[in-house]
Amino acid sequence: MNMLEIILDKRYGRSLTDEQIRFFVKGITDGSIPDYQTSALLMAIVLNGMDEREMTTLTLEMADSGKKNDLSYLDGIPVDKHSTGGVGDKITPVLMPLISTFGVQTVKLSGRGLGFTGGTIDKFESIEGFNVEVPQSEFAEYAKDTGMVISAQTPDLAPADKILYSLRDVTGTVDSIPLIASSIMSKKLAGGAQAIVLDVTCGSGAFMKTEQDARRLAEAMIKIGKGAGRQMCAVITDMDQPLGRCCGNTLEMQEVYETLTGKGSKDVTDVVIELAVKLIQMADKADGMSEDELRQECLNRLSDGRAHLKYSELIVSQGGRIDAIGSPVYREYPFDAMHVTSPDEGYVMSVRADLIGKASVLLGAGRLAKTDPIDYGAGLCFYAKRGDKVRRGDVLCSLCHGENAQLDEERLFDAMDLVLEAYEIGPEPPESREAVIDVLS
Ligand code: URA
Repeated sequence: MNMLEIILDKRYGRSLTDEQIRFFVKGITDGSIPDYQTSALLMAIVLNGMDEREMTTLTLEMADSGKKNDLSYLDGIPVDKHSTGGVGDKITPVLMPLISTFGVQTVKLSGRGLGFTGGTIDKFESIEGFNVEVPQSEFAEYAKDTGMVISAQTPDLAPADKILYSLRDVTGTVDSIPLIASSIMSKKLAGGAQAIVLDVTCGSGAFMKTEQDARRLAEAMIKIGKGAGRQMCAVITDMDQPLGRCCGNTLEMQEVYETLTGKGSKDVTDVVIELAVKLIQMADKADGMSEDELRQECLNRLSDGRAHLKYSELIVSQGGRIDAIGSPVYREYPFDAMHVTSPDEGYVMSVRADLIGKASVLLGAGRLAKTDPIDYGAGLCFYAKRGDKVRRGDVLCSLCHGENAQLDEERLFDAMDLVLEAYEIGPEPPESREAVIDVLS
């Protein structure tokens, strides 16, 4: 078998055999296939796609390319959740403690920010002292203690995906359904979960710009997961505008705290509840409650302090500081540096999440280069979102940087320009759209 034949087969639209895919994944993992041949095959896959069998084989081989987690020490069915990414997405830090109150235990391996999208690990790191590098050998201890552990993804989990992802990033081959589906699912399968809920985002701030593509990606991942014997469910959510009231690390964790004390925004709460209900049901912890009763019970636990108590336990167990009233202490606090006002009277038609994400990175909340330091206090707060009526001069959004951070004026003004471009104001109210678009299983 040789790589040139594999590239030519895919170039001419033929399905690759399982042996060919195995040869390819083994070759990229042991370094015997050069990057130029890998890149050529990636482009052929982008152009000619993969069928369900090819996608499943690619995923299973990538999952097998490194170490696999054994979560059998968890009490009950190991569950996992994955979001395909977005701006202002602070779902995981709310979801984990909430489902933990129902006895659902989780080992959550998360990533850092990527491009203009935020990362859960960076968000937790905004809490003073919070350790996001928990050794795998200690996961069981944490899980026994609080029912939860959150840690940065280790490099030995699906290493073939790591190699492919960094090549895709520089060869224009990221946005392909078979490649995204196999990349995500290989890490989820290697992570050891038996039941997986996917939050598949769609809109300007997501990989999938349309609902139709989001559905195709969700269906592909469900098929791969089911083929591998996992319970699967996907929730399609709106990422055409940022989720919640703010984006940026400390700002989002402050919003997490509000949501965990029952004062969250409707969109964040709706997505959390939808995912929580599915995870609790899949973990067999619904305790006979109907879906509506479970939904209500989740809301109760957000407002009566139970979910918040679990959140405090999680923070303390991983070395994070909380104050006397149980609120986290942050490494850097936001300083409100500039307000962007509405140039017109009318309705907010859209707030483009991609442009807001880029503004947030410019302010320092994300990285322009891999090694850039993060300003945890940087980000944006939204005072008007889609459908809101505004008058000329009303504040649409505030731009923040850390109290102790230096931000040059040019970056601040560039961020302001992006925000003004992101907000579209029109004369008539737009059609209303819920955060949860559909649920597939
Ligand atoms: N997230 C991943 O892990 N992989 C992709 O390909 C896209 C998003």
